Amino acid sequence: MNEQISEQEINAAGHLTVGGCDTIELAKQYGTPLVVYDVAKIRDQIRRFRKVFEKNNVDYAVSYASKAFAAVAIYQVAAAEGAHVDVVSAGELYTAIKAGFPMERVSFHGNNKSKEELEMAIRHHVGVIMLDNFHEIDLLADLLEAADAKIKVMLRITPGISAHTNKYIQTGQVDSKFGFDLASGQADLALEKVLANPRMEMEGLHAHIGSQIFELAGFEGVANKLVEVASHWQEKYGYQARVINVGGGFGIRYVSGDHPLMPEDFVDAIIKAIKQAIASTDLAMPAIWIEPGRSIVGPAGYNLYTVGSRKDVPGLKPYVTVDGGMGDNIRPALYQAEYETVLASDPHAPIKEHVRLAGKYCESGDILSQDQGLPATKPGDVLAMLDTGAYGYSMASNYNRNPRPAVVFAENGQSQVVIERESLDDLVHLDLPYHAQ
Ligand code: LLP
Repeated sequence: MNEQISEQEINAAGHLTVGGCDTIELAKQYGTPLVVYDVAKIRDQIRRFRKVFEKNNVDYAVSYASKAFAAVAIYQVAAAEGAHVDVVSAGELYTAIKAGFPMERVSFHGNNKSKEELEMAIRHHVGVIMLDNFHEIDLLADLLEAADAKIKVMLRITPGISAHTNKYIQTGQVDSKFGFDLASGQADLALEKVLANPRMEMEGLHAHIGSQIFELAGFEGVANKLVEVASHWQEKYGYQARVINVGGGFGIRYVSGDHPLMPEDFVDAIIKAIKQAIASTDLAMPAIWIEPGRSIVGPAGYNLYTVGSRKDVPGLKPYVTVDGGMGDNIRPALYQAEYETVLASDPHAPIKEHVRLAGKYCESGDILSQDQGLPATKPGDVLAMLDTGAYGYSMASNYNRNPRPAVVFAENGQSQVVIERESLDDLVHLDLPYHAQ
């Protein structure tokens, strides 16, 4: 019995449904590999985050970290749900623009934004630029001067807090490429530069400690640290921070050993920590911003695959191979990330064997799961990998010149393609013949 699937998600035929749509039918209609999102789950997650702030009566923004999954359709849903978004590239910004996302609700992140990216942000009046380093402050100053424009900014601080998570997705420790260092005085210097520039409106401060975090301590720590810095800035410069942004990183459950807190618990703890810390300063209560990515789209996503070949060697765990793999989900190969996979036609079928779920890419490391319990499967069976909605499609590649899958949104029993499957022609679309000189 897979605990990640509720009874409501199984239909009368016994099949797994997503957004009220039968996954076997979705696989038939759109082909596999296929990424399917349950849109109601995305909406619900945003609403849950918002509700906690509203209940606590604090000014806030829930800024969806769109690197987790960026597409016109998701920016539309985020807009409709009253979320802000965080973008980290011209590409994400462009997609948000195409979706008609309100630009004043966009935060632009990145540790090496290009001149072109900053110009684009100024031209489109994005809500806030998250300043990450001195080079960027100078570059932005020049561009604002040239455009005779003003923009809101926040300073990203390296809080010196190590989150307990995979080292590739830790970002808050002192030795990090992101943000201004505190101990060496860089953060103060950055503030001085910003305050001296009348074209930059200083909104507040930001930190992000990492991703897939299960403990409150890191968030409480970052909340305290940011209030401490804000209070120091008020004393030293008379500057009052309007926003404290504690980043994202709220962990989700992928496999039965994962025991994440509820989104409410994370936000409650952050609000409490900030309120408490503020009480012992002269600061007015700032707005609190969070930037969840994974927790908004992760649990809403499902990857559907079709079983193909199989390899059995006596004494070894069998390989069951599907029609996708590291090109549509690099996370198992890159981070040893684990997922649960079920037979879409009978998700609660008793487990008959433990297999290696292999991808079709020409690389031994292309194993989607090292140990997946499954009922007996045969070629043509559809498998549904659960909780794939964050950093799956967004990190997809064309390795081996495999086309990236289609993405479908499902809600209220209706389904709709929101990103088309790449065609073979799409794969050669940018190729040019070489004329030997
Ligand atoms: N804010 C900032 C500044 C970030 O850098 C990130 C993620 C987030 C928010 C959202 O974090 P989330 O709530 O999604 O944990 N590719 C990796 C994750 C990289 C996260 C990068 N930054 C993975 O697949 O696990």
